[in-house]
Amino acid sequence: MAGFLTDEEFQLFSTLIYEGSGISFSASNRPILESRLRERLKLAKLASVRAYYDQIKRDQEEMKQLLDSVTTNLTWFFRYDGHFTALEQIVLPDLLAYKKKEASRNLKVWSAGCSTGEEPYSIAMLLKDKLPPDFTLEVIASDLSLKSLMVAKEGFYAESRVGGVPEKYLKRFLEVKNDGHQITEQVKKLVRFDYHNLKYDSGLSEVDVVFCRNVIIYFDAAAQAEVMGRFWNAMTPHSFLFLGHSESLFGMETKFEFVKTDWACLYRKALDS
Ligand SMILES: C[S@@+](CC[C@H](N)C(=O)[O-])C[C@H]1O[C@@H](n2cnc3c(N)ncnc32)[C@H](O)[C@@H]1O
Repeated sequence: MAGFLTDEEFQLFSTLIYEGSGISFSASNRPILESRLRERLKLAKLASVRAYYDQIKRDQEEMKQLLDSVTTNLTWFFRYDGHFTALEQIVLPDLLAYKKKEASRNLKVWSAGCSTGEEPYSIAMLLKDKLPPDFTLEVIASDLSLKSLMVAKEGFYAESRVGGVPEKYLKRFLEVKNDGHQITEQVKKLVRFDYHNLKYDSGLSEVDVVFCRNVIIYFDAAAQAEVMGRFWNAMTPHSFLFLGHSESLFGMETKFEFVKTDWACLYRKALDS
């Protein structure tokens, strides 16, 4: 509902959230921030927005809860199937040929902004199926939403949420349990979930593929550029980056190369070419 925050309070909170996460609130999405703050205030049993602001300044845990509450966590299995076809048909053969030269037998994929886990589990299922048996696979999945990470780690999804999973993977990698589907251990053990805020350095290195889809759309240009710089540093000299359909590096000063395939547009870091 509009009018919950004064202009000054809106400015205070949007700056706080931006500095804490890169997520940018403008006049058009102000009602979302207002409604999420209203809920947080109720839960914290505080009467005034100012009192809540002061509490957050003192309490890092409450800051995490606030950031969690303003995120959008919509996701689904095999979202944008063109990306998964490009992963299988273009990225994987390219990386396998490169790794042969490098004598490496490990593939590291990072799902940055993994939400409730459907994206990293989709990647793990596809690569478990397609990777040669002498290769090992690590999928690192990170998010700043603790609520989403709890769902992700559980790996249990209602019937209504597994619609995107191809039939052969549904049979092979999910087990029917109660009213839903449980990701099997063989897939679960390939994915490591971590709390991580993209505002900060991840400490990751040697990443072959980054999926960061439908995350930077909520950031402004400066925060997007910062995140891309961090990805660049975490990636191997020969690696790939997937962004969401409404996201691009167009207009950004970056060394990532644009790659157009029959199925999807993606980016690569190619220091070896
Ligand atoms: C819309 S979901 C996208 C999920 C998945 N990548 C997909 O495309 O289906 C966006 C996710 O990005 C996360 N996110 C937003 N800002 C973030 C930040 N600064 N650091 C880490 N995760 C963030 C949110 O918590 C949310 O789970």
